[in-house]
Amino acid sequence: MTDNPLIQQLREKREASRAGGGEERIKRQHDNGRNTAHERLEILLDPGSFHEIDMFVEHRATEFGLDKQKFPGDSVVTGWGTIDGRLVYVYSQDFTVMGGSLSEVHAKKIIKIMEMAMKVGAPVIGLNDSGGARIQEGVDSLGGYADIFLRNTLASGVIPQISVIMGPCAGGAVYSPALTDFIIMVKDTSYMFITGPDVVKQVLNEDVTFEDLGGASVHASKSGVAHFVADSESQALMMVRELLSYLPQNNMEDAPYAAPTDDPLRADAELDTIVPTDPNKPYDIKDVVTKIVDDGIFFEVHEEFAANIVVGFARLGGHSVGIVANQPMVLAGVLDIKASIKAARFVRTCDAFNIPIVTFVDVPGYLPGTDQEHNGIIMSGAKLLYAYCEATVPKLTVTTRKSYGGAYCVMSSKHIRGDLNLCWPTAEIAVMGPEGAVEIIYRRELKAADDPVALKKNLAADYRKKFANPYIAAARGYVDDVIEPRDTRARLINALEVFQNKRDQNPPKKHGNIPL
Ligand code: HXC
Repeated sequence: MTDNPLIQQLREKREASRAGGGEERIKRQHDNGRNTAHERLEILLDPGSFHEIDMFVEHRATEFGLDKQKFPGDSVVTGWGTIDGRLVYVYSQDFTVMGGSLSEVHAKKIIKIMEMAMKVGAPVIGLNDSGGARIQEGVDSLGGYADIFLRNTLASGVIPQISVIMGPCAGGAVYSPALTDFIIMVKDTSYMFITGPDVVKQVLNEDVTFEDLGGASVHASKSGVAHFVADSESQALMMVRELLSYLPQNNMEDAPYAAPTDDPLRADAELDTIVPTDPNKPYDIKDVVTKIVDDGIFFEVHEEFAANIVVGFARLGGHSVGIVANQPMVLAGVLDIKASIKAARFVRTCDAFNIPIVTFVDVPGYLPGTDQEHNGIIMSGAKLLYAYCEATVPKLTVTTRKSYGGAYCVMSSKHIRGDLNLCWPTAEIAVMGPEGAVEIIYRRELKAADDPVALKKNLAADYRKKFANPYIAAARGYVDDVIEPRDTRARLINALEVFQNKRDQNPPKKHGNIPL
């Protein structure tokens, strides 16, 4: 309590703003298993660190009775706070106020914090929970979206932008998250789509549920729109905190260093036998990764999408690194359209934010077939090639087994500015696998042979002996060293320190023309 009427008035106004759409709507939000905009920020940010701005902002629309529906702060909560002591800018859409719909002033509030974040070089985290454009405001609302899209694009590659989808995100509204670096969705309570089930029914006569059209599982596994899926809102917000620990504040800084407790020289003898002697037998590349990185902690991105390639963050000797690894357990680790797009996006994210890339190679090549060709594997494969070629961060490569054909070139090879290219003794670097190769180069002999199967077996064994090893590439200097697998961790950490101050640049240009 205070005797000062002006201060009393201020307190009441603040309270009115924090009340959002009122008790009843807050109850409805809770009953639907969702937190309010303020509650989410409390979970996300360091305790007591949130500084709200623009809590007295009100819309000026008058049509459709809006002049009588004013909520101080309108339908979004904005400001800044800290995560692990580091500054972040946040906006949190308030579904209890007109369904979190985006009004002209709602957009202006978001733009204000985005511009502040750009000026000081700090990440922006958007908590999305909105019915889309405020229908009553018409084009002012649409313009507001476009204004945000422009800022998302200008901020891209300058500051990390993370979107958490915690309710509806429909229509053109999806394009703001889509322009950001990472999307996290909450299972069962969030969805994203361009047009909802009703429109799908009208236009295509298809029956589909919200969940099957644009729920978290669909976007995590089928479309690849969601990088992460959380079981609950709290888990989603904890994921944001973890993700940020691997990222710098902006493109001029390095990611935070976390003094390691794990011995940088730790050798793991199990790595020496992890690759099966039978070249067609799979093994889990994630076992390789977790045995090598600090404390076995691997923060996987896009876990359920294109699982034939694995991407994510880890630390090596305390340094944040991006890991890209072919996964022999899924489709033999082949590169296809989805895997290429997934890895290309990740490589570019790492490069934009000065995060060294460690690539583990075991790839039999690109996936053949009409489906892939007709859907553009040429252009998609080129995306990954382009991403690796243009990346100037330290690039370390470990070939554990197969590295065949075009995939050899693409997967961070020496030729495209790999800084340190290591091979395990099990590595096979060749134009193609032995069986395919002998079929082509001995086609005539095989046709004329009495026992083509036996001949092919012998020729393939011979080819394997000659080419399916790392030493021809090493003899030409395309591979810097062949190492004992157990030493991989120590060698990578040493290389990260050696290449820490690496300087490399691309020719000056407005921007490249990545094959989109
Ligand atoms: C204004 C809106 C609103 C909107 C919801 N509300 N969406 N007000 N503009 N877009 C209001 C409702 O009137 C209601 O107000 C409150 O928010 C909660 O909505 P409910 O419908 O009661 O909630 P629920 O049953 O949970 O359904 C949520 C919903 C539904 C699925 C999001 O509200 C809905 O379909 N809304 C419209 C979605 C839409 O078509 N948006 C436009 C998309 S096009 P009260 O006062 O009762 O609490 C678009 C274009 C962007 O966004 C283009 C950018 C380039």
